[in-house]
Amino acid sequence: MHLAVFASGGGSNFQSIIDAVQRGDLPQTEIGLCVSNTPRAGALHRATEAGIPTAIVKPRDFVSPSAYAETLLRTLHAHHIDFVALAGYMLKIPTPVVGAYSDRMVNIHPSLLPAFGGQGLYGRRVHEAVLAAGVRWTGATVHLVDEDYDTGPIVVQEPVIVEQSDTPETLAARVLTTEHRLYPQALRLFAEGRVRVEGRTVQIAPPAF
Ligand code: GRF
Repeated sequence: MHLAVFASGGGSNFQSIIDAVQRGDLPQTEIGLCVSNTPRAGALHRATEAGIPTAIVKPRDFVSPSAYAETLLRTLHAHHIDFVALAGYMLKIPTPVVGAYSDRMVNIHPSLLPAFGGQGLYGRRVHEAVLAAGVRWTGATVHLVDEDYDTGPIVVQEPVIVEQSDTPETLAARVLTTEHRLYPQALRLFAEGRVRVEGRTVQIAPPAF
């Protein structure tokens, strides 16, 4: 699997993928590119440290949405990318790119989707909403990317308990630890060819012996 990771922020999930590849936990995977929309993304620094090529692609640098989408696609093709993982990427992926990578593009979200997802629910806001709702469990979800926010078919999820003493920060930190374990596991399922998408649901085949 020739992977591109899209990240706008610190990139701790990206780092967990780099670490998994370096440990040999993602055997059929090579990270071929890190894409960001901002030169300030800490993820770019992590990529450079790991010897991974980087690309900064900002929508406002283009005359039209289609020119932006074409450049994203050309960049992915130039690096022979066949799978995309969004890891804290703050922009919506243009429709032609979603189409080109349908069933081959995933995102990680810090809640148990479909709860606490959708436009405007990102970062700290997710955990604030979880605490305000008084739910006892939250978690992390890896899902396929479709044309909306956080609505694509769910691949894997892991629950995280909400403690009475939690603040958005303590909860975010606990969920993030889970994300760092879950995301490489999910990518491995794809690399091993064990994921089958059937409409809105995803079937995971047992491991081959
Ligand atoms: C994570 O919580 C992820 O679920 C969400 O954005 C955050 C990114 O964090 N999509 P990081 O940049 O990977 O540290």
